[in-house]
Amino acid sequence: MTLLEGSVGVEDLVLLEPLEQEPLLRNLQLRYEKKEIYTYIGNVLISVNPYQQLPIYGLEFIAKYRDYTFYELKPHIYALANVAYQSLRDRDRDQCILITGESGSGKTEASKLVMSYVAAVCGKGEQVNAVKEQLLQSNPVLEAFGNAKTIRNNNSSRFGKYMDIEFDFKGSPLGGVITNYLLEKSRVVKQLEGERNFHIFYQLLAGADAHLLKALKLERDTSGYTYLNQKVSRVDGMDDTSNFKAVQSAMAVIGFSEEEIHQVLEVTALVLKLGNVELADEFQANGISASGIRDGRGIQEIGEMMGLKSEELEKALCSRTMKTAKEKVVTALNVIQAQYARDALAKNIYSRLFNWIVNRINESIKVGTGEKKKVMGVLDIYGFEILEDNSFEQFVINYCNEKLQQVFIEMTLKEEQEEYEREGIPWTKVDYFDNGIICNLIEHNQRGILAMLDEECLRPGVVSDTTFLAKLNQLFSKHNHYESKVTQNAQRHYDHTMGLSSFRICHYAGKVTYNVNSFIDKNNDLLFRDLSEAMWKARHPLLRSLFPEGDPKQTSLKRPPTAGAQFKNSVAILMKNLYSKNPNYIRCIKPNEHQQQGQFSSELVAIQTRYLGLLENVRVRRAGYAYRQRYGPFLERYRLLSRSTWPRWNGEDREGVEKVVEELSLSSEELAFGKTKIFIRSPKTLFFLEEQRRLRLQQLATLIQKTYRGWRCRAHYQLMRKSQIVISAWFRGSRQKKQYGKIKASVLLIQAFVRGWKARKDYRKYFRSGAALTLSNFIYNSITQKFLLGLKDNLPSTNVLDSTWPAAPYRCFHAANQELRQLFYRWKCKKFRDRLSPKQVEILREKLCASELFKGKKASYPQSVPIPFHGDYIGLQGNPKLQKLTNGSDGPVLMAETVKKVNRGNGKISSRILLLTKGHVILIDTKKSQPKIVIGLDSVAGVSVTSFKDGLFSLHLSEISSVGSKGDFLLVSEHVIELLTRMSRAVLHATQKQLPVTVTENFSVRFKESSVTVKVIQGPEGGRNGKLSCKKKGSCGLEVTV
Ligand SMILES: Nc1ncnc2c1ncn2[C@@H]1O[C@H](COP(=O)(O)OP(=O)(O)OP(=O)(O)O)[C@@H](O)[C@H]1O
Ligand SMILES: [Mg+2]
Repeated sequence: MTLLEGSVGVEDLVLLEPLEQEPLLRNLQLRYEKKEIYTYIGNVLISVNPYQQLPIYGLEFIAKYRDYTFYELKPHIYALANVAYQSLRDRDRDQCILITGESGSGKTEASKLVMSYVAAVCGKGEQVNAVKEQLLQSNPVLEAFGNAKTIRNNNSSRFGKYMDIEFDFKGSPLGGVITNYLLEKSRVVKQLEGERNFHIFYQLLAGADAHLLKALKLERDTSGYTYLNQKVSRVDGMDDTSNFKAVQSAMAVIGFSEEEIHQVLEVTALVLKLGNVELADEFQANGISASGIRDGRGIQEIGEMMGLKSEELEKALCSRTMKTAKEKVVTALNVIQAQYARDALAKNIYSRLFNWIVNRINESIKVGTGEKKKVMGVLDIYGFEILEDNSFEQFVINYCNEKLQQVFIEMTLKEEQEEYEREGIPWTKVDYFDNGIICNLIEHNQRGILAMLDEECLRPGVVSDTTFLAKLNQLFSKHNHYESKVTQNAQRHYDHTMGLSSFRICHYAGKVTYNVNSFIDKNNDLLFRDLSEAMWKARHPLLRSLFPEGDPKQTSLKRPPTAGAQFKNSVAILMKNLYSKNPNYIRCIKPNEHQQQGQFSSELVAIQTRYLGLLENVRVRRAGYAYRQRYGPFLERYRLLSRSTWPRWNGEDREGVEKVVEELSLSSEELAFGKTKIFIRSPKTLFFLEEQRRLRLQQLATLIQKTYRGWRCRAHYQLMRKSQIVISAWFRGSRQKKQYGKIKASVLLIQAFVRGWKARKDYRKYFRSGAALTLSNFIYNSITQKFLLGLKDNLPSTNVLDSTWPAAPYRCFHAANQELRQLFYRWKCKKFRDRLSPKQVEILREKLCASELFKGKKASYPQSVPIPFHGDYIGLQGNPKLQKLTNGSDGPVLMAETVKKVNRGNGKISSRILLLTKGHVILIDTKKSQPKIVIGLDSVAGVSVTSFKDGLFSLHLSEISSVGSKGDFLLVSEHVIELLTRMSRAVLHATQKQLPVTVTENFSVRFKESSVTVKVIQGPEGGRNGKLSCKKKGSCGLEVTV
């Protein structure tokens, strides 16, 4: 329940404190500014026009309000509609919703909202939906023909509407009846500045297609029609074209046939065209002024459309036939009279067309008489009007409002009284203003203003508005609610605002001054008989049916009832209707004159609250008890205020409520206990209760917070404690486990020792000395056997170059394994050697000798290893000439090669053939074959070579040799390794001595008696290409670059 808490201002004015105009306005303004447009006075809804679309409507909101009771949610029109509908459906009480307020205050919108709510919540089904659709679609049709733009409202309803929606026992709509009141027909021929004629005229011209326009003989331009105000043909935010389509389809939905729609549009067009009929003066022979129609074509067209001869129409417009019992007199009308007749005809056609449309809708939506129905009436009627110049229309409108106020007071009080009776509470009389006296002043059958007006209209003799006023002055001179110049003068009261032709009535909502001019005329509301007869003669079926009194056969001299009498009757019927139903009120308020959102004019609203009698309303409502509530919800809301009922109450609701108020020591005058409800007299008490509740809520909130925080801390503590226990348990466990493990291991060890010791002690007698040794030998032998057998199966290949060998499985076999490896290797080598032929052995011996001499000493040695020694490099075998050069005694030539000889004196190089035999080295000049130098191997004292890759070597000879006188030789061989190896072997063989081979870069060479020091330098090629250059360095130095 948001009645007070969290609301903007007070949501129910009954709770307003102090109850005065100012705070009431401030409350409405405050709420309006916060977009809270709805406020209650008890079950009366005040609606302030927001002039903007608020997001508070639609199915979502309907669903919300449908499920809650009146005060549970914010004030809303849906809440009111819901109460009405549920009461109708569930309690079988017929309802009426009375919507009143100024023009533009939002009555029609409110009625549509109510209808849409009811349509949304009531039953569903194909037929039900069709009925709903018909009811809802009646709105656009009635608005097109009955609404117009006025200065106050762009979509002002210019008629009063009461619609009964009828439901079956389940609450599904069956149909309805619409009653319309007092269409403002003067608008058809004349509009105030800034206003428009009825929407349908503009919709027709804008929305009809060319074909339809042609058929209706109309032009699209509104400026061609006198009855349409030229200055305003469009209304902002209103699309006449699409509205016309909507009206056509709505008519179709309601059940108008195409023919009927067309005829309605034809009659509408006829009204427009009548306005263009221009009348002119015509003079008759007898000098009396007469009139005629100026534009023949226009009247022709109208005649064609009506199905009437244009002459007959002209005659009806321009003359008047007076019938008496004996004779028939035709008089011509002057232009003014004829224009009046034309306008009267237009107004009558239109207003009758409107009535016809309402009846036609009723025909479609009416419900069969046999069915039992529940009824919800929605009244959307003009509110209290005070204009600058108030005439007959304002008089009847205000009369109607006066009657509605009467209904309101009686019904509200009645309801209040009924409730008190129902609840068994003694009823104290409420002091309120009863407007019955004003109603009487107007409607009294013999002495009421309306009765006087009728009397004046029917009275023979000279009758005028002045005589009517005089009559009133005479009759009501002493009436408290009637004033005029005459009565004021009589009381010596001077008032310049009161005109001579005016009278004033003090309505419940304020004083209104009416101008009596044209009261008589408007009340008579007569159409010349000629015109109605002419219309009846027309062949247009709809038009003809609108004027049944034109039928000559039905001629009766009895006057039709006057407008005032008709209105009074319909108001009486309406009142009867309303009294039979449960009323629900919607009071609409217009917040500003400019149709602007967000603007709140306090003065304007103040006037309206007065007209609407809102303060009065609150007072009446508060006359008894300001607030009432059923025991259950009341206890639910306030039980927290008493220790007996909080936090639990198991007794009866009423007893609980009594306990609560007792504990709060509320004055007994402030309270009354009904059968189902508690009543609180003044809002102050309710505010006190609310304040107490607010404080208590704070206390409770603190209590809840406290309890919650305590609980949370406790829970947290418990959790931590539990966790701590788990952790320490785990920790202790693991520590103990570790300790246990250690102890267990020690125990086992001790056990093992003890057992071992015991076992040894027990089994010692079985032991023989050496058994362990035997055992270990056996084990050793067996693993040795296993090792050797495994080795046998796993021997590497016999390739001598393969040095792989399986690893020993145990460390103890390591040395043996190495030994075996050596053995295997040697065996492999022996096998290899056994396979060699003597020749291969010799080759290998030579290679072995070369290795001993040069391995690791000379750079060219590694290259020479894979190349087999060839011996003959000059083709000695095939050259007998050369063969001859050797001494045959020396045996075969070991080496034959072309070498280079370096001249020790000048360093020049020359070629020589070198032959090595078993006993000699022979050097032969290649150019001349003689003389050759023969050096016996026994005279070779040594050889010097460099460590480079070159082929330079020095052959040192012993001094005593035959060739020694010549000195040592400096030679260059391309196969120096082979040559020197073979030479060394030959020397060994010949002399049994090792040939000394010196590897050096500096050596001296004997030359004749002196010696030359040779220094070998490595050139960029490193001696590989065999090139070398010699440079003399002084007299006994030679630098050789290899
Ligand atoms: N609840 C609402 N939400 C939004 N706009 C609204 C609401 N009520 C009224 N209006 C606006 O105010 C305008 C006038 O409302 P409405 O036609 O219902 O007034 P009225 O009281 O029926 O006037 P009249 O007596 O002239 O027919 C509407 O056209 C609409 O623009
Ligand atoms: Mg309206």
